[in-house]
Amino acid sequence: MDIEPSYHFDHFADADRAAELRRLQQQATVMLDAELAQLQVLGFGHGKRILELGCGPGFLTGPLSDLAGPAGGVGIDMSTELLAAANAIVKPAHANVEFVEGNAYATGLPKHSFDYLYSRLVFQHLSRPLDALLEARRIVRPGGRIVLSDVDDAFLVLEPCPSAFRTLTARAIEAQAAHGGDRHIARKLPGLMRSAGLQDVRLHGLTVTSLDVGLAAFLEITTRFKAIQVGDAEALAMATELAALAELPLDKQPFGMVVAFFVTGDVPLADGTPAPSRVSLHPGGTR
Ligand SMILES: C[S@@+](CC[C@H](N)C(=O)[O-])C[C@H]1O[C@@H](n2cnc3c(N)ncnc32)[C@H](O)[C@@H]1O
Repeated sequence: MDIEPSYHFDHFADADRAAELRRLQQQATVMLDAELAQLQVLGFGHGKRILELGCGPGFLTGPLSDLAGPAGGVGIDMSTELLAAANAIVKPAHANVEFVEGNAYATGLPKHSFDYLYSRLVFQHLSRPLDALLEARRIVRPGGRIVLSDVDDAFLVLEPCPSAFRTLTARAIEAQAAHGGDRHIARKLPGLMRSAGLQDVRLHGLTVTSLDVGLAAFLEITTRFKAIQVGDAEALAMATELAALAELPLDKQPFGMVVAFFVTGDVPLADGTPAPSRVSLHPGGTR
């Protein structure tokens, strides 16, 4: 019996669901161009059939499937409600995308059926990340690539930093861990990928700052979900107090920064030959 992941859309109160859907959309679209550019550097593109694991409402699956062209893409998620949103909002606007319901630990998808697998802000919620990675490896073809994007709260900064931000961050780390999640997952993903037998494991970082997205969006993305997850009046009051910082004149606003980490690993060819080399962001680096 699986432990419930630390993110489950069904756990949001009815009154909070529309706002959470908006937050997911904002989180997916606010840096969309930069994220797609990063994924193209990592090899996503024409002819590479993709799977987005834990796609939620699919705001990334659509554009990623467009990049794949006729090869197309599939988004898989365990939430019936988020998939209904994906089918209503995303599917009509993208020709080559489909959405299926399934669990990261046992997707039910055929072996070796994708060239690339992407999973974004999902592994931090899984209590058995290695098992999910082994399943990901099963469904990606030999020579294909797995890319996991996630955070590590050690790389979350607000400067100057109000005590509410520190407290809310610390309480969210505890709340997520209590459900088997891990807000420091990014630093563990390279080791997990190697344990899953993936090759040429690499890590890249993309900074998302209040300069890029504005302080209001930055705080919405980095504090609102945490307050709901901690789930008490004090946490919600802290999120409200922090949101008010975005009302200050620009020169009085704190600077916010978070790093989105992209960890990549290649599925070995059947004979153990390393997969063909990627475009490297670290020319001359060792493997
Ligand atoms: C924080 S949301 C991220 C959604 C999307 N990847 C994005 O970046 O907008 C986490 C997603 O993981 C999904 N999820 C969590 N555990 C899962 C599991 N065991 N199998 C499939 N999906 C899962 C949730 O339903 C949710 O859609």
